[in-house]
Amino acid sequence: MALCVLDNVRKVFHIGEQEIEVLKGISLSIERGEFVAVMGPSGSGKTTLMNIIGCLDVPTSGKYSLADRDVTNLTDDELSEFRNEHIGFVFQNFYLLPYATVLENVLLPTLYVEKGKNRNPGKRGSQLLQLVGLADRARFKPNQLSGGQQQRVAIARALVNDPDLLLADEPTGQLDSKTASEIMNLLTKLNEEGKTVVIITHDRMVADHARRIVLIKDGRIDE
Ligand SMILES: Nc1ncnc2c1ncn2[C@@H]1O[C@H](COP(=O)(O)OP(=O)(O)O)[C@@H](O)[C@H]1O
Ligand SMILES: [Mg+2]
Repeated sequence: MALCVLDNVRKVFHIGEQEIEVLKGISLSIERGEFVAVMGPSGSGKTTLMNIIGCLDVPTSGKYSLADRDVTNLTDDELSEFRNEHIGFVFQNFYLLPYATVLENVLLPTLYVEKGKNRNPGKRGSQLLQLVGLADRARFKPNQLSGGQQQRVAIARALVNDPDLLLADEPTGQLDSKTASEIMNLLTKLNEEGKTVVIITHDRMVADHARRIVLIKDGRIDE
């Protein structure tokens, strides 16, 4: 089975009396090893979709399976455990801890998984910093780095538990175009090494780095 399978996923938000149907029946499969960009205008439902793909939220109706597990009916605790094991997140705003070093930031997700899975987290952290080109910045604090470097730290952190899926919401949204393309080249390299990558973006230039583009418009997939 594909890594991610969404089957007629709907998401409805309630604001007071009002119901807003943000996702209107999304069916989508993502195979292991793919590099997919989900593209669409602002307000089209991209982040809502990413939250479901990333197990940060569940569909109102329809089904979602990740890594052969139907996650539609998991409790919050089960969902967060599942998420920590299977998904690495990268966000527009990096979300690094300001008082922790670069290496400590990278290692943070290892604190939440069962001991033993990652036998030598320090070594793994150093290897990942090497991979993202920041081996010499391990002891720096995030505010001593450029935006692009901070996003590299976030990418290393997202990879530390060796997730099945690397999921990035507007990862280049805070970066100038040269830095953005460096980050996209890094994501491309990770995909070529086998990682499944899904990015959410409104930027065509960014989406063009992916091998498949899924267009979402007004809560539906637009072919
Ligand atoms: N938690 C929420 N409660 C109510 N409405 C929401 C919520 N999250 C998103 N929305 C609405 O859903 C629509 C799509 O939002 P979003 O998924 O963030 O779009 P995009 O990421 O494509 O800009 C917007 O109209 C937004 O106001
Ligand atoms: Mg968004």
